[in-house]
Amino acid sequence: MTILVRSPCSASPDCVSQAQSVAKRHADAATVNEGDPFNMRKSDSNTMWGGRFADGPSAIMREINASIPFDKALWRQDIEGSLAHVAMLAAQDIITQDEASQISKGLKQVAAEYAADGIDENWDLEDIHMHVEARLTEIAGPVAGKLHTARSRNDQVATDFRLWVRDAMDAADAALVQLQKALVARADEHAASIMPGFTHLQTAQPVTLGHHLMAYYEMFARDRSRFADARKRLNQCPLGSAALAGTGFDIDRDATAAKLGFDGPTRNSLDAVSDRDFALDYLNAAAQCSLHLSRLAEEMIIWASQPFGFISLPDSFSTGSSIMPQKRNPDAAELVRGHAGRIIGSLNALMITMKGLPLAYSKDMQDDKPPVFEAEGLFTLSLAAMTGMVAQTTFNTGRMREAAELGYATATDLADWLVRSANIPFREAHHITGAAVKLAESRGCALDALSIAELQEIDARITDDVYQALSVDASVASRNSFGGTAPDAVKARTAQARALLGMESK
Ligand code: ARG
Repeated sequence: MTILVRSPCSASPDCVSQAQSVAKRHADAATVNEGDPFNMRKSDSNTMWGGRFADGPSAIMREINASIPFDKALWRQDIEGSLAHVAMLAAQDIITQDEASQISKGLKQVAAEYAADGIDENWDLEDIHMHVEARLTEIAGPVAGKLHTARSRNDQVATDFRLWVRDAMDAADAALVQLQKALVARADEHAASIMPGFTHLQTAQPVTLGHHLMAYYEMFARDRSRFADARKRLNQCPLGSAALAGTGFDIDRDATAAKLGFDGPTRNSLDAVSDRDFALDYLNAAAQCSLHLSRLAEEMIIWASQPFGFISLPDSFSTGSSIMPQKRNPDAAELVRGHAGRIIGSLNALMITMKGLPLAYSKDMQDDKPPVFEAEGLFTLSLAAMTGMVAQTTFNTGRMREAAELGYATATDLADWLVRSANIPFREAHHITGAAVKLAESRGCALDALSIAELQEIDARITDDVYQALSVDASVASRNSFGGTAPDAVKARTAQARALLGMESK
């Protein structure tokens, strides 16, 4: 007796809700196990591996064992891997061409059905690999049994999951390119817009908004390189490693690897079926990138708050309050910040799952997929939301400039001027400048609003041309060292970035 649940194929690990699963267990208990979910079923030993079993699993065993609720997300990769395997079996004369075409035709039909209708979940069939094979058997008959020659679910799942993670890496790169493009476009717009730069979240020195945005461009460039590195390491094919030791059949591992877009076959069968570092590499890159996204989100949240007022987030990425009509909440940015916690949690979850496992495969490894699927979903959404926010946020440049001017952000420029123009040692210049800031503070004015008489009273060596150094524009223009905040330096970097991203030059 099997109970089928029709559900859509998606990467979401919570395809079967808690309620659904409890209901299913109760149904099983009532109909299959005569009221006791812990009892063995006195029938139906598993058709795939049940040859040496007298009785079937208990309802609880079926439930804890079943990965189909989440690993059905691998159906495309599973069928792709099987098509490559079956073509190789025929090319090597391990099965006939005719058998291979019957199997391939059947596999393509299974794919078409899954794409159209989703997957009928059957916990007796445990996982996606057995679902595909069972449906193939219904379609093609006993010849389907030849597909699993020289293969085990252990090399099969390692291959499927690598293919899935490889797609996720490619998708991450494509999404990061979109985010970088949005940052570069906004940075060009604001290459010369002045804002306070902070250390300790205290006004430090004026910077350009373009420079600040390009800081994130650089972080995301490194994130892309992490995904690219991870992809290179991932791109070896485990298929043909079989259960753990390889196989005695005369298979062609180079052929299957090439067909599936891998650079070649993995070199040790034990390693191939039992490591999941490719998934950890993906999670690590995603976690590091989500950390960058979270910092940008955090800045947007602060900047959008009324005391700052640096930005107005677009309506399309804000929500209102049901009680306070004036509210415009930065929910999307807060959720990007929140999701980072869950993504980092996924990395931890899989590391801890893997850390104590002896070689080769252990069933713990079935738990590798939910954290990766969950992280991928959250990460994809976070990248898309951040790209939208960067593209559509209004920067209140007047307010930013005002904050830079009022925060004594050019104090370092005054000290530097004293060093350069009056040959005063920096420590002494620092002290003189401190006195000028104190005076301006007591007046409630900016540094360049102090008169020359007032400045000369603090130090007689100060002359009129000091005012050129005290404006925020002069300050940022002077910081033109390589990688500095000067508008020209920002423009130089955005021009390079445009070329790298294939954007039109400005
Ligand atoms: N569903 C299993 C997983 O995801 C497939 C591999 C099963 N192998 C085994 N020896 N039981 O890990």
